[in-house]
Parts: sequence; structure tokens; C-alpha cells
Amino acid sequence: MKTIQIIDSKNHVGETVKIGAWIANKRSSGKIAFLQLRDGSAYFQGILVKSEVGEELFDVAKNLNQETSVMITGEIREDTRSKFGYEIGITGIEIIGESKDYPITPKEHGTDFLMDHRHLWLRSSKQHAIMQVRNELIRATYEFFNERNFIKIDPPILTASAPEGTTELFETDYFGDPAYLSQTGQLYLEAAAMAFGKVFSFGPTFRAEKSKTRRHLTEFWMMEPEMAFVNQEESLEIQEQYVSFMIEKVLENCDYALDVLGRDRELLKKYTVLPFPRISYDEAVELLQQNGFEDIKWGDDFGSPHETFIANHYEKPVFILNYPKSMSPFYMKPHPTRDDVVIRADMIAPEGYGEIIGGSERAIGFDYLLEQIEKDGLDRKDYEWYLDLQKYGAVPHSGFGLGLERTVTWVCGVEHVREASPFPRLLHRIYP
Ligand code: 4AD
Ligand code: MG
Repeated sequence: MKTIQIIDSKNHVGETVKIGAWIANKRSSGKIAFLQLRDGSAYFQGILVKSEVGEELFDVAKNLNQETSVMITGEIREDTRSKFGYEIGITGIEIIGESKDYPITPKEHGTDFLMDHRHLWLRSSKQHAIMQVRNELIRATYEFFNERNFIKIDPPILTASAPEGTTELFETDYFGDPAYLSQTGQLYLEAAAMAFGKVFSFGPTFRAEKSKTRRHLTEFWMMEPEMAFVNQEESLEIQEQYVSFMIEKVLENCDYALDVLGRDRELLKKYTVLPFPRISYDEAVELLQQNGFEDIKWGDDFGSPHETFIANHYEKPVFILNYPKSMSPFYMKPHPTRDDVVIRADMIAPEGYGEIIGGSERAIGFDYLLEQIEKDGLDRKDYEWYLDLQKYGAVPHSGFGLGLERTVTWVCGVEHVREASPFPRLLHRIYP
């Protein structure tokens, strides 16, 4: 007899199989019992009819607790009434691990309670759906960049540099010297782009953000492509193609998850239509001022209500271009005719999900970069290697970083970025 996963049921209709699963829920009358089974691949229903299976097995089924693990034997059948389409007619149950008083019941729980039980909360159908979408976005990312001949590069996590500013660093002791958990792999990717042309990384990044918002994690995963001989306009095209591609793949491969999440597919389809609007920072400030945001002035950073208004105005992801230099990292290319803005673009997601991509064309020129590094109060000796790139065949290049968890949150239509990470790290939360 074969042991299968629930998700493979369609290939085993009419066969008697074994399935290792947990009891997600159950309901029974005197004659028939329904077990909601979960094995991580999917959920489906197991059925026992007392007159067919006998009293003893029926009693075992009736007394199973939520999250008890079992090895089920039974026949796979079509089940046209369920969305999943299949069920199992149970003929045997072996209890593998007992479960008693499982803390997460089908009733509503508060957020703190769920976060304290994140290790168990992950078993719920909504969390399962979110992790499936996350997995699909990761899979699609590799497919997209591999098809375009990018080489995956893994930048270090322990670094001596602080490219995104010195206020949000997690410092650690590196044999007597300070080291920081990486805020971005970008500078290393720039070096790698000079070696391999087109590269991308995908890994954890860290920000000691004191922000307690629904968009901020202290540890998150970032996709960071970096491309030699690519200018900003070309980079924007790749960014919108990439985002649209990821959403197409979710629509194609995450049907069940989108159902569980109740996500509006028509809305998601709109986000696959290119191009995405591009507006300048200057235009964005004007648009906001004309629409009741009198407080905003040129030179201010946009807060979440501002970003939400802008992206909702276009009902699509929007690129905001050419931000003030005063609020941008040192490595961004200065504008060719204005000295107050840089060649940067952020992609803002609609529906209030905020910035999902930050990117720029990179500055070139040894003297310019050295000046910026010193102006930012960074220690030149930590950046000598980066400055070396200017001495040996520097070329125009561009890159960007997409925050995975923010993208997952948006694509799933969930409220808070904490649900997009299996074990989220937030201000004041490192348990479990
Ligand atoms: O805009 P950021 O800071 O850009 C960079 O780090 C660049 N060096 C990337 C590059 O050009 N290679 O971060 C990029 C993205 C943001 O748009 C956002 O999606 C995500 O990373 N992000 C966060 N996600 C969750 N929690 C946080 N605290 C985040 N900070 C940034
Ligand atoms: Mg940013």
C-alpha cells in the first residue's frame, strides 16, 4: 500500500492508500464521522460510516482530539461538493501522537496570544495559504532571474559596512571589532555585477527599526538584483516585469490559497498589466498637496497615508522617481541636471501596502563616492574595497531590492507583515 500526500489524491482515486496527517477538526453524529485532515500539503475530509467500519474504529475516530497525529488508511474518492474535489473513506486509524487541550481552537484569538503561539499558529489554514504564496513568490523569483541569465550571489550577513545609514544597525562583536548584521547585500552585489554582469541575491536582511507599524520587521528577506550596463529606465522595466510575473504565477499556481485568503483575483490581474505608472517625487508632492495633504512639503519623506493615497490614485503599483538627495543613501547616482535629486525609484504597492521596492542607478566616480561616504560619516577604511570598483573599469549599473514579506502581505491581502514570515522578528518580539 502506498503512502501519499493529500495533495496527490487526484492521482489515486479508487485506490486504498495511507496518509500521515493531523486532525484539524472533526464533527460526528451517531452514525457518521467527518475528520478534517491536514498533512501540510492540503486539507481534506475523511469519512467513517459506523455501520461500515464497526463500533471500535468509529469510537477511535469520535474521540480524536484536535492536532492528534494519525496514520490513516482508506480509499480516495471524488468529492464534488468540496472545493478540493477529493476525500478519503477511512478504514483504519493508527494514533501516532496524542494531543490534548490544543491552545488554538477554531474560535477567535487575540493577536498577542497567536504571536506567542506562532509555532502552532502556523498550522492554521490561513497561515498555510500565506506560506504557499510566499513559496510561490520565491519559486517565481528564481525562475524569472534564471531565465534572464542572472547569477545568484550570496552576500555576507556579517559586515563592517552600513550602506542604508547607521541608525538601524544590529551590532555584534566580531573578535573585538564591531560588525553589523547586513542591512542589504547591495554593495557586495555591485562588486559581483562587475564580475558576473547580472546577479541577484535573496537572503535575510536586518534593520534595528524602532518602528511599530504593520509594514516593519527587524529581520526580513530581500531579493536584490544588480545589473552592469543597465540604466534606471531599463531597470524599471525589469522591476515591473518581475512583479507582474510573480503575480501571474500566484494566480496560476495558488488557486486554493487564494480561496482560503478570499483574495480578489480580478484585482490581482490588474497588477499584471504593464506598464506601471511612473511619477516624479515632485509630482507626487503636488498630487498630495492638491488632495488635502497640506502638511507635506518638498523634501519630506512620505508616510504611510501618503503612499497609500498615491498608489490608490492609480489603482496599480506606482514608481515614484527622483527623490531628494537629502533623504537618499550615498550610493545613488546624482541627477544629470539637478543637484537636489538622485536617480532613485521606489515602487509603491496599491491598497495601502506601501513601498515594496527600493532601487536606483548607482553613482560612479571615485571622487564623488569618497566625498559621499565621508559626508555620511562612514569610515573610509571599511569602503576601500567598494571604492576599488571605481578604479578598474567602472560602468553604469543599476539595481533594486524587493522586500519579500511586504510583497507576500500585499499579494495575500493580509493586514500585517508579521503573518508573511514564519517566525517574525518585530520590535520587542523575538519569541518563539
Ligand atoms: O528601500 P530599501 O532600504 O533598499 C535597499 O536596501 C537597497 N540597498 C536595495 C537595493 O537597491 N539593492 O529596502 C528595499 C525593500 C523595501 O522596499 C521594502 O520592501 C523592504 O526592502 N524593507 C522592509 N521590509 C520589511 N521590514 C522592514 N523593516 C523593511 N525595510 C525595507
Ligand atoms: Mg526604501
